[in-house]
Amino acid sequence: MRDDFLNIRHIEPDDCNAIFEVPSDWWGSNYSSDMISKWYIHHFRDTCLLAEENGKMAGFLIGFLSQSEPNESYIRIVMVDPAIRGKGVGRALYEEFFKRVGMLGRSVVRCVTAPGKKDSIAFHTRMGFIIEPQEQEYEGVPVFINYDGRGGNRVLFKKVLQKMENH
Ligand SMILES: CC(C)(COP(=O)(O)OP(=O)(O)OC[C@H]1O[C@@H](n2cnc3c(N)ncnc32)[C@H](O)[C@@H]1OP(=O)(O)O)[C@@H](O)C(=O)NCCC(=O)NCCS
Repeated sequence: MRDDFLNIRHIEPDDCNAIFEVPSDWWGSNYSSDMISKWYIHHFRDTCLLAEENGKMAGFLIGFLSQSEPNESYIRIVMVDPAIRGKGVGRALYEEFFKRVGMLGRSVVRCVTAPGKKDSIAFHTRMGFIIEPQEQEYEGVPVFINYDGRGGNRVLFKKVLQKMENH
């Protein structure tokens, strides 16, 4: 992905409908638009990012600063258009997020994913996240059992930002 074609900016409330209406294959199985709500964009706008390729939405990231852990930030969700995966859009969104939260004094980024989402696990590992150890594993990957209280298991990622990533 050439930088001159990719623009990263924060998400505006006017972008909400386009985000809610992305085809379900952007997420994969079990996508539902209630995974993303308007209040994220209204209240966490500075850390919610949109990638545009030649003016067209190529991907987005919803993230925020932890209120309870003053060193930490959290990525709720990221999606890239399946037609242009593997070309650096996800990396560009994450690197911009790292830069922004680093400038706001956060040195740790956390996120979680479902154990079956192999692409997400590979992506996060490549982006320098470690998987937090757990008592149980799924196909060799540590998983937090019943993470959300509704039976869903999750892989927990953590990344400590290096100085050069956040300045
Ligand atoms: C995960 C996702 C956001 C990655 O986006 P992407 O634009 O394809 O990622 P990039 O091209 O920027 O890849 C960044 C790095 O991760 C690696 N990577 C990405 N997907 C990978 C995969 N499936 N297997 C192995 N490595 C992968 C790339 O090789 C690249 O490495 P490099 O920059 O060191 O060369 C995208 O696959 C997606 O939208 N998936 C569906 C939604 C999802 O699962 N989101 C995550 C959970 S919230």
